[in-house]
Amino acid sequence: MNELKVSPNGRVAFVSGANRGIGRAITIELLEAGAKKVYAGVRNIKSLDDLKPEYGERLIPILLDLKNDKTIIRATRQVKDVEILINNAGVYDASGFFSDDTLDSLSDNFEVNVWGLVKLSTSLIDHLMNKPFAAIVNVASVLGLASMPIAGTYSASKAAVHSITQGMRGELLNSNVLVMGVYPGPIDTDMTRDLDMDKDSPQNVAKNIITGLKEGREYVFPDMMSKQVGELYLTEPITVEKQFAHFVSEEQEA
Ligand SMILES: NC(=O)c1ccc[n+]([C@@H]2O[C@H](COP(=O)([O-])OP(=O)(O)OC[C@H]3O[C@@H](n4cnc5c(N)ncnc54)[C@H](OP(=O)(O)O)[C@@H]3O)[C@@H](O)[C@H]2O)c1
Repeated sequence: MNELKVSPNGRVAFVSGANRGIGRAITIELLEAGAKKVYAGVRNIKSLDDLKPEYGERLIPILLDLKNDKTIIRATRQVKDVEILINNAGVYDASGFFSDDTLDSLSDNFEVNVWGLVKLSTSLIDHLMNKPFAAIVNVASVLGLASMPIAGTYSASKAAVHSITQGMRGELLNSNVLVMGVYPGPIDTDMTRDLDMDKDSPQNVAKNIITGLKEGREYVFPDMMSKQVGELYLTEPITVEKQFAHFVSEEQEA
């Protein structure tokens, strides 16, 4: 828990990957929680048109493609009043370390999940630092705490997000910026469409992030599975690693 509590009520937020899945749920939850404005980072500027009648001018789509530096630079000029940055956009390119496409897969995951997150954060940090209270929320994954062998390259990118989150928190210690890491388990979005397993809802993840901001939390385990993994990880990280490896071998045997 951090002394900085950054309730979204009356504040200005920027969400990357806001058009679908967890990002869309976060965007709606921020607006429902009374955010003054939500800049919704999207690759298709019309993709949130259906929400416009409900939220009007408080919802502002911003063109953002994390693979395109020009959009990051342009967005940075457009969101000077941002107080809460939610680094949510991500890709899931599942591969292992002994595949034909290992390096391509690593590159795909890192380009968006890591370089994109770092570029956007460094680009916006001056805006955040000059507010009385601010927050950076990085959506990592439980797979960033222990690797899942079927998705080793994705896990590595999320482990990098975990380390980057710790690094940002260290550099911003005693500043005005709360740095939160979010570690979801399987969530029911397009990303997990092909995974046949129990999944929690994006709405639940969004609600737990908003609660975390209000309470000044630095670690958020936002769903049923991640709460269990999170507790175990804090005491027995190696058991989590073994469980993930075991889970996959069971799946492969099936
Ligand atoms: N779903 C899960 O089980 C789960 C679990 C743990 C962590 N997470 C993490 O949660 C975050 C959201 O995932 P999700 O499940 O909501 O996935 P999703 O439904 O596939 O949505 C991904 C979002 O990221 C955006 N995005 C992808 N590439 C981008 C780029 N180059 N520039 C800007 N935006 C880009 C997508 O925009 P387009 O529509 O334009 O492609 C979309 O809005 C990700 O960081 C993911 O790794 C998800």
